[in-house]
Amino acid sequence: MRHYADPVPHGTTSRIAFFGHPAHAMMVPFPIAFLMAVLASDIAWWHWSDPFWARVSLWLAGGGAVMGVLAGMAGTAELLFVRDIRRRAAAWSHFVVAIMLLSVAVANWGLRVEDAQARILPWGIYLSALGAGLVAVAGWLGGTLVFEHQVGIIDADEED
Ligand code: HEM
Repeated sequence: MRHYADPVPHGTTSRIAFFGHPAHAMMVPFPIAFLMAVLASDIAWWHWSDPFWARVSLWLAGGGAVMGVLAGMAGTAELLFVRDIRRRAAAWSHFVVAIMLLSVAVANWGLRVEDAQARILPWGIYLSALGAGLVAVAGWLGGTLVFEHQVGIIDADEED
């Protein structure tokens, strides 16, 4: 029986998976792409003042927030159900940054719902830039879990 503070010596399987393919990893490309692209469409609106780009930003912000929350629910279920994920500090760092990201993404969407153009400057574009930075950090930490800690890529026979 390992103590909870011992380093985890091996990779970890995924519980929230379809035929061994982790659901969280399948879902995260959507919020990553949407929440990076919303900064680009905000900049396009700022440059060209075309309302088309404001509507693109509204849909990207909404899609990114909704898909991010769904992906976060799958990730949180992994964290709660798989002991060897819970025992990794990197998993908690990823969780904290992801919650910050999702808060910013939902706020950025909510800010624009009534009027897609009115709030882009200054707060909308600020939240888009902050969100893009947090996506980069959360994605990096998620990659660390998979490629360094081998979370979700092996069949483990020691899980609880
Ligand atoms: C909100 C809570 C979240 C938790 C608890 C969480 C947890 C996890 C876990 C346990 C993994 C390892 C793979 C797996 O077991 O599925 C992972 C991977 C990853 N996560 Fe999250 N995650 C969360 C949210 C997010 C969000 C919002 C994003 C990005 C928008 C994200 C991006 C990633 C990426 C890019 C990977 C690596 C996937 C791969 O390359 O296969 N996560 N996350």
